[in-house]
Amino acid sequence: MDRQSPIGVFDSGLGGLTVAREIMRRMPEEKIVYFGDTARVPYGSKSKATITHYSRQIVNFLKTREVKAIVVACNTASALVLDELTGEVDVPMIGVVKPGALTAVRSTKNRRIGVTGTESLVNSGVYIDFIRQLDPKIQVFQKACPLLCPLVEEGWWHDDITTEIVTRYLDDLKAEGVDTLIMGCTHYPLLRSTFRMVLGESVELINPAYETSEELSEILKKEDLTRIPDGTPLSHEFYVSDDPERFVEFATSVLKFDIGRAEKIAIENYG
Ligand code: DGL
Repeated sequence: MDRQSPIGVFDSGLGGLTVAREIMRRMPEEKIVYFGDTARVPYGSKSKATITHYSRQIVNFLKTREVKAIVVACNTASALVLDELTGEVDVPMIGVVKPGALTAVRSTKNRRIGVTGTESLVNSGVYIDFIRQLDPKIQVFQKACPLLCPLVEEGWWHDDITTEIVTRYLDDLKAEGVDTLIMGCTHYPLLRSTFRMVLGESVELINPAYETSEELSEILKKEDLTRIPDGTPLSHEFYVSDDPERFVEFATSVLKFDIGRAEKIAIENYG
């Protein structure tokens, strides 16, 4: 495996850009190949079989880009398909759920953790399993927040309606006295200030993307796969399954630089 090869990052759509953003911050020398499944989003309300099928096609596509590692940026796909697909690739593959659970366990003082995410993620119970493996005494309180992804994609990051909906969703978790909350969906870090306002300063907000980029960095070091800057400017590549123009616009607002272009791929042809 060539250490100069790119890192593959994929998500059900736009949200995984919050994970790509953390990887870019943590490892500015690394090149990223991003795939967003914008034609088939959301994954959060789909079955495991469907998400596995879609994710396998994306992994097959990323293999053709000769990536040296794969990050499953989508919480839902990380929860449901990571184990199955890991055996099908010969490069390191990590998801966001395990690192998110680990950070939450390290953070909680009162052993009461809240988990927010899509319906499929919450129903999978995977965050609960990981957290309990690390500390069986921790109590986990979950809440699916299906209305938040569309609001984020609409650009309503700082809006009274969004604040009201976040308040409704988080009320139960607040009442349970959680001191740590996992933002277990790619989109929620973009609502961080709203979550903060609703929950107050005393609740630690966990963005699994931070710890994921740390873990990725460690793996690349251990496997001798860290890219050595060679003076050529980095050009990240972005691929989608639909509507590249909308993706470019959203990516520019999340990444804070003009990504130039995104290429539309017929992802259903990849297996
Ligand atoms: N990317 C998904 C996640 O993090 C959210 C959007 C979707 O439902 O596909 O779970």
